[in-house]
This record gives sequence, structure tokens and C-alpha cells, in this order.
Amino acid sequence: MASSSIIKVVILSIFLLFSSTSYAQRSFRPSALVLPVSKDASTLQYVTKINQRTPSVSLNVVLDLGGRFLWVDCDKDYVSSTYRPVRCRSAQCSLAGNDGCGNCTGGPRPGCNTNTCFIFPENTVIHLSTGGEVAQDALTVPSTDGSNPGQSVTVPQLIFGCGSTFLLEGLARGAVGMAGLGRARIGLPSQFSAAFSFHKKFAICLSSGADGVVFFGDGPYNLLPNIEAAGFLRYTPLFINPVSTAGTFSQGEPSDEYFIGVKSIRVSDKAVSLNTTLLSIDRQGNGGTKISTVNPYTVLETSIFKAVTESFIREAAASNIRRVAGVAPFEVCFSSENVLSTRVGPSVPYIELVLQSQSLPWTITGSNSMVFVNDKVLCLGFVDGGFRPRTSIVIGGYQLEDLLLQFDLATSRLGFTSTLLGSRTTCGNFNFTSTA
Ligand SMILES: *[C@@H]1O[C@H](CO)[C@@H](O)[C@H](O)[C@H]1NC(C)=O
Ligand SMILES: *[C@@H]1O[C@H](CO)[C@@H](O)[C@H](O)[C@H]1NC(C)=O
Ligand SMILES: *[C@@H]1O[C@H](CO)[C@@H](O)[C@H](O)[C@H]1NC(C)=O
Repeated sequence: MASSSIIKVVILSIFLLFSSTSYAQRSFRPSALVLPVSKDASTLQYVTKINQRTPSVSLNVVLDLGGRFLWVDCDKDYVSSTYRPVRCRSAQCSLAGNDGCGNCTGGPRPGCNTNTCFIFPENTVIHLSTGGEVAQDALTVPSTDGSNPGQSVTVPQLIFGCGSTFLLEGLARGAVGMAGLGRARIGLPSQFSAAFSFHKKFAICLSSGADGVVFFGDGPYNLLPNIEAAGFLRYTPLFINPVSTAGTFSQGEPSDEYFIGVKSIRVSDKAVSLNTTLLSIDRQGNGGTKISTVNPYTVLETSIFKAVTESFIREAAASNIRRVAGVAPFEVCFSSENVLSTRVGPSVPYIELVLQSQSLPWTITGSNSMVFVNDKVLCLGFVDGGFRPRTSIVIGGYQLEDLLLQFDLATSRLGFTSTLLGSRTTCGNFNFTSTA
């Protein structure tokens, strides 16, 4: 009896130690969190809003699906009473991947302290990374019941990376960093699920018009008019690329990005002939298919691009859709004169990414394949990735809009829907009226 209560006390104190050093949320425990995502018209980046620091400041950060962690500019206007640098050789430092330790002269100030853990925040838009301090600060996010934002909750010591002002180049105007949703242990999905003990899952629903949405945690994911979008999910495995795709990384580090297994591509139900070697990830980490929110359009390795666009042009011609001159960045454009509009976008040949089974393709309808460049011309929204790019297929933002994608990190599974336009809703239909 006595010994068992000692064990209980020990377990309890270990638990308290863990929860008080990492996260100390009390009273209200949310089952999911929600963030709005808007599309920046000039960069085509997806930008979300977070509240960080004490006193809390609202910050715009660019959403980076495969990004390893949250990073913000610590050099300019960083004022917070709860900022804490992460010490060398601390538990948080090893959680962050322990990229090294350093002493910054010219401090102490946020981003510049002595004996701190270092990391490499990366601007994945312009592919620039730099060493920066690992830090912790309060982050406040609205919870959700799946229908509205509710009471806000705070992660008192969320781990993030300190970037510099020059690292913001090329980001949407007003953005002060990037929100990494990658699979790293300090990615936002992992930190949120650890802080609030909910499923290590998140979902994105990007929109080109009204605010789209990111959910952390499980569904329901309700969109107006009263449509539960998680009910439409179908599933495919997520793959881990054994070689990091980040700009700076340690030997042996896998990629934190999300890869899926595209086995073939069909246009109007007809298989496109492809070099299938390019579709799998080799030992050097080349090839395969990933999903990215920093690429505005899907990028295809050059032989895949040629094969898919040739099939598409042929199938379009069979429907009397006339090709016209390309409009950069697109090579394949058409006159809109014989193109009908439908609920799922312009009526053009469907493109299907065949996954683990022939009967479960990711179908790209006109709403996600065609971009109107003016009212007479619409273009196939895919771009040529050149010869031997690192990843053969990068599914970009335009192809993700108005689809719900759920990333389950625990089971390594992607849930995806076909366009929600077919279900009479959009990703701009989350009800952002707060009930708090
Ligand atoms: C940083 O400074 C501390 C104290 O001056 C010293 O012990 C440590 O070795 C220095 N670390 C590095 C990486 O230079
Ligand atoms: C297919 O792609 C692989 C990887 O780039 C390349 O080594 C191979 O030569 C290609 N095969 C053909 C038939 O082009
Ligand atoms: C949005 O949510 C608010 C708060 O629950 C509710 O009052 C309002 O009716 C909702 N809007 C729509 C269009 O359903």
C-alpha cells in the first residue's frame, strides 16, 4: 500500500514537472483550435493570423504546410515580458533538433542571448535560411467546437525560431514570419496536440476569396450551410521522405513535408504514359509527390508536364476547346468560348491523380485546374518544373483550394475530399463569428 502510493506520487510529480515545464493550460481544455487563412492577392501566399507575446500582439504569418516550425522576425519590434530563449542542452533544445549552440553578442534581447540553442528558420518561398535562436513565448489561439471560434486558449511557452528581418523578403506584405505545419516535433500541429492532449491531426481548407480555415485537432469541421466536411474525407497514406527537403539540415534527418503516393495520372479516364521511376522517392530523397502551400500552382517535372499537358490538349480539342497562346507563368491556355461553366468549375477534361487504388483518385476538376487570366482566356494552372527537380510533383495551392485536407500525423494518413463546390459549400464558408 505504502509503496504503491509512493509510486503514484512519483508518477504524479513527473507528470506535473512535464506539464509545467512544457505547457500549463488549466481550467478549459479545447478539443480543437481554429485559425483563419487569407490569400494574399499579389504573392498568392496563404496568410494566417496568430496572437503571440505578452502583451499579446496579432501577427500575420505565411502558412507553410511542410515548414518545420513557427518562425518570426525577432530583430524588429519584438517586445514581450514572456519571451524566453531556449538554453543549450535543454529538453526544448533537443526537441527542436539541437542544431547547435551559440552566444550572441549585442544582446540580451529577443533573438540575441548567450548560451542558447540554435535552429535554421527557412523562408521556403525564396529558399533562404539563416541561423537563429530557439525561443519560447505565449501563443494564443481560438478554440473551436467545429462550427465557430470559441474561447481563446494560450500555450504559455510555445517553441519557435527567431528569424531576422532580411528573412522576410518575398513574403506577403505585412507578414513577419512563417507558420510551419510540418511533421517536426516543434511543428505547430505537434505542439498544439501536446499542449491540449488532442489528436495529432490538423486540417486545411484554403480559399481564394473569403477566409479559409485551418483546424488543429479532429473534426467536426462544419461549413455553412451546415455541412460537415470531414464526412467527405477519403484516405491515402502519407509517406516520409528519408532525406530532408529543408534548406539546412543535419545528416540523416528525414523531411518534415507531406508526401503522398501518386501511382499514375489520368486525363478524361485515360492513363497518361509517364516514367514511373519519377513517381517514387529514391534513396537520395529524389522524386515522389508532395503537397505545398508555398507553391501557388502545381509544379510537374518536365517529362510529366509534357505528357499531362499533351493529353489535356488532345482531350480538350475533342470537346472543341481551342488552344490559344500561353500567358506566363502558364504554357497551356484556351479560349473560353466553348467552355461551359459548371458547379465544379469550367467544363474541361478531369485530371486524376491515381493513388493506392484505381478507384480512389484525387480528381482535379475545372475549378482547380483552370485559371482565368481574363474573361476570354483560361489556362491550365500547372507549371513546368524542369529536368530532375528534387520532387517530381508538387501539388500547389490553387489545386488545394475548396478541398478539405486532413493530415493525421499519428497514423500517417491524409484525408482528402473532392472539391467542396460539388457539395454546395466552399472553404470560405466557415462561420468566423466568435461565440466566446
Ligand atoms: C558561450 O559563453 C559561455 C559563457 O561565457 C561559455 O561557457 C560557452 O562556451 C560559450 N559558448 C559558445 C558556443 O561559444
Ligand atoms: C526515368 O527517370 C529516371 C529518374 O530520373 C531516369 O534515371 C530514367 O532514365 C528515366 N527513364 C526513361 C525511360 O526516361
Ligand atoms: C454564425 O454563427 C453565429 C454564432 O453562433 C450565429 O449567430 C449565426 O447565425 C451564424 N451564421 C450563419 C449564417 O449561420
